[in-house]
Amino acid sequence: MAEQKSYHMSPEDFRRHGREVIDWIADYHENVERYPVLSRVRPGEIADSLDTEVPARGEAFDQILRDATERILPGLTHWQSPGFHAYFPSNASGPAILGELLAAGLGVQGMLWSTSPACTEVEMRVLDMLADLLGLPDAYRSSGSGGGVIQDSASSAVLCALVAARERDSRLLTNREGCDGTQVAYCSGEAHSSLEKAMGVAGLGRAKLRKIAVDGCFALDPASLAAEVEADRARGLRPIFACATLGTTSSNALDPLAAVGRICRDEGLWLHVDAAMSGAAALCPEYRYLHDGVEHADSYCFNPHKWMFTNFDCSCLWVADRRALTGALSILPEYLVNEATEAGQVVDYRDWQVPLGRRFRALKLWFVLRYYGVEGLRHHIRRHIELAGRLAGWIEADPHFELAAPAPLNLVCFRHRGSDRLNERILKEINGTGEVFLTHTRLDGRFCMRLSVGQARTEAEHVERAWQLIAQAAERLRKSAT
Ligand SMILES: Cc1ncc(COP(=O)(O)O)c(C=O)c1O
Repeated sequence: MAEQKSYHMSPEDFRRHGREVIDWIADYHENVERYPVLSRVRPGEIADSLDTEVPARGEAFDQILRDATERILPGLTHWQSPGFHAYFPSNASGPAILGELLAAGLGVQGMLWSTSPACTEVEMRVLDMLADLLGLPDAYRSSGSGGGVIQDSASSAVLCALVAARERDSRLLTNREGCDGTQVAYCSGEAHSSLEKAMGVAGLGRAKLRKIAVDGCFALDPASLAAEVEADRARGLRPIFACATLGTTSSNALDPLAAVGRICRDEGLWLHVDAAMSGAAALCPEYRYLHDGVEHADSYCFNPHKWMFTNFDCSCLWVADRRALTGALSILPEYLVNEATEAGQVVDYRDWQVPLGRRFRALKLWFVLRYYGVEGLRHHIRRHIELAGRLAGWIEADPHFELAAPAPLNLVCFRHRGSDRLNERILKEINGTGEVFLTHTRLDGRFCMRLSVGQARTEAEHVERAWQLIAQAAERLRKSAT
């Protein structure tokens, strides 16, 4: 019999190369501080260095891995560097990476319970445990009326919540017939852009998202929300949804959840809590106050892929009433019909999200929770908050600088007193050193620098160094101006 031809990697080669790749990743993490945090390539440079055609014959894996080192690494901004203080935390960890690898190795599709029961049941258990740890309402447990699901992103989570709210309001008519243009939603002017995007994608219309005024701390003003809802009702519109943000992207503002919740309850609005950036703080009892009022929420989202040592993507969404979500998103073609679904005994997560297919994301989360334990998670979250607090203290004590917003958790927004131009130049100069990467925002119309403390290996020395670089750059620029 002729030998069967195969181009697959043999198990022996997989073992060998697998070890090489793990070593590669371990070396990368160990040495990540050697690289400039913000990539220095010019647009097109990486693309120009790559082949333009697929090779006719497969290449040696060693060569492919070498190219990853030589051609890809220079084009990376090093998010796992302890000097990464930009945007928001997006941290990874050993157990998460290994859980991700295992999920890839298993290659299962968890769209239905029956397509891999463990994929669904681990996810349910992990989200129940996390709900306990975050002090979320009993209804969010799988044993209650709701439950949790892992989405790819907080953007998808808010889209699903919005669609559920839309259908709860229209009693599934919108799903069938389309939107009638009367449904409106609310968030603060500081809420994340994913809300506006979701309004467009859900067919509700971006213009039907009311951006409510904020107070001096950039948090939603409940009185303005109540007034807007009333005004919309007077116009014959249907207020259906509001989002309270716990930790805005720009400045980490905390919307007054209890007050917003009471308005939503009285007005019959679906309340979504976007805790994508800062919800992880509630793992620590002393920050559980963040969740005061969460009992009013119909849905709640936070991102382990931001600040809980779980590599992207992993965004947890809980709903208080799972039927509202699945009623809006469920669709069952013949080829997916199976006994377990028909018997109504199982959760089919395809009904809890936009895509049909789904990865075994719960595995990496399960690994993280078990490896760190409650103690480990709290330790690192507390440490980040403490370090951010120290930085805020140094800024307040320096007559040249000022805080631009309260720094309740792990993000510090600040500016050098004086012009926007000076602040822009400081930022450019410190990012140019390659040792740190910070980004900016605009608060009260003024350009501000933001320093987020949340990468897995960020320690006191890194925050101290960042502040030193900032202060030195400022001094140099002040001198050069005189
Ligand atoms: C408050 C907030 N909400 C939502 C998002 C969107 O997150 P994702 O990238 O998971 O869609 C972000 C990301 O920065 C955020 O900070």
